[in-house]
Amino acid sequence: MLKLDSTLLKFNLPEVISGREGQLKGVLQDLEKRASDPNDWLGWLTLHNDQKTFSEIQNYADSVIESKKFENLIVLGIGGSALGPQALLQALHSPLWNELSSEKRNNALKVYFVDNVDPDWTHNLLTELNLEKSLFCVITKSGGTAETISAFLWALDNLKKKLGDNWKDNLVLITDPEKGTLRAFANKENIKSFSVPANVGGRFSVFSAVGLLPLALTGIKIEKFRLGLVKAYKDMLESKNNLNSNIAINLACALIYADQKLGKKINPLMPYSSHLGRISDWYVQLVAESLGKTPQIGITPIKAVGATDQHSQLQLFAEGPLDKIIFFLKVAEFKHEFKIPETIIEGFSDLAGETLNRLIEAQQKGTAQALAQKNVPSLTLELERINEENLAYLLFTFQLMTAIAGSLYGIDAFNQPGVELSKKYTYAFLGKKGYEEYLKDLK
Ligand code: PA5
Repeated sequence: MLKLDSTLLKFNLPEVISGREGQLKGVLQDLEKRASDPNDWLGWLTLHNDQKTFSEIQNYADSVIESKKFENLIVLGIGGSALGPQALLQALHSPLWNELSSEKRNNALKVYFVDNVDPDWTHNLLTELNLEKSLFCVITKSGGTAETISAFLWALDNLKKKLGDNWKDNLVLITDPEKGTLRAFANKENIKSFSVPANVGGRFSVFSAVGLLPLALTGIKIEKFRLGLVKAYKDMLESKNNLNSNIAINLACALIYADQKLGKKINPLMPYSSHLGRISDWYVQLVAESLGKTPQIGITPIKAVGATDQHSQLQLFAEGPLDKIIFFLKVAEFKHEFKIPETIIEGFSDLAGETLNRLIEAQQKGTAQALAQKNVPSLTLELERINEENLAYLLFTFQLMTAIAGSLYGIDAFNQPGVELSKKYTYAFLGKKGYEEYLKDLK
């Protein structure tokens, strides 16, 4: 599933872990205990236990696909309500998925995201699609995020104009089971909806309906994610007596040691795979929003994709400030072998007859080695193959790493008060009622 190589870290990670043994065991026990507390934020640890919800989502998605009623899925969501499904869709589908014929897609839906409030981009996407053939999936845990709700209101208005009494058929909502305006609306209007469990926060929600429904509507069988989560949780429980075997603990301890003892506060995640590129975006949000909590505490995560960004950021990583700890992510076995043809062009003979598989592997290893020589610590995660089980295992591991790091730092990894404040000032700038005191601050 997933392996870790920490030999180029430049410090002894097993020693760091054994130095914190008692504390780490306590953290694992605490997380396990809190997972079943409906009033805590650890519900994501055991989402795999809710097999019923996985089946309900799959059955609904299958019935939508079989009906052949829709061609497009338009996901309206932002942050934790978009990045997870975006990462997994990119990992599992061809880059040309939206260009394929319905026959080649087995009638599964093309997928587009509205995750910003850019007027031109939103106009172009929403007005150019065939509304009748579009299913709008509105995802917002709080049920009131401005970016998402503004697009939702457009969809609502236009579906009503175009479809009359049938407007509800083209909507599916994912929100809190009880709280928020969107939940109240779904209940009142009896609109098809799924819930994000109350004890699962946005950036930890990828394996709730938030990620699962968009994936299932594009033809992915979501039970396989569940199996990956079952394994990840079991490994977590079993690691209590062998902390070194727990990859999340290794990652959390590496980050904290690099930050606190070596002053390395910048953490690029660099997958050597275009399919895994958006996992870096998801990771950036997870780490930034969870661990950036005081002027003293915070790791700055950075997105980088290999080999592409060897021609963009690598110079900085290699010879710029020595303030980084790099996490590489590589794929052990790609689905395809891509052969570079033989050629009679003499200057290209080094590459002729090679494979992209060997090239990308050598590039990752070469880059890690070159950075080590420049005293830049790195570690490498190796994903056995890109498939549903392994992706679930990987994302769960990053979530667990974040929760463990939060506990070790002694901060709340599950809130985002800084983000909330920006929302309030946004409404104040718009002159909305109830936000006058924020406007006073500004004056
Ligand atoms: O991690 C989080 O909680 C946030 O990033 C949210 O996902 C983001 O703000 C969107 O919130 P909501 O799902 O309530 O629309």
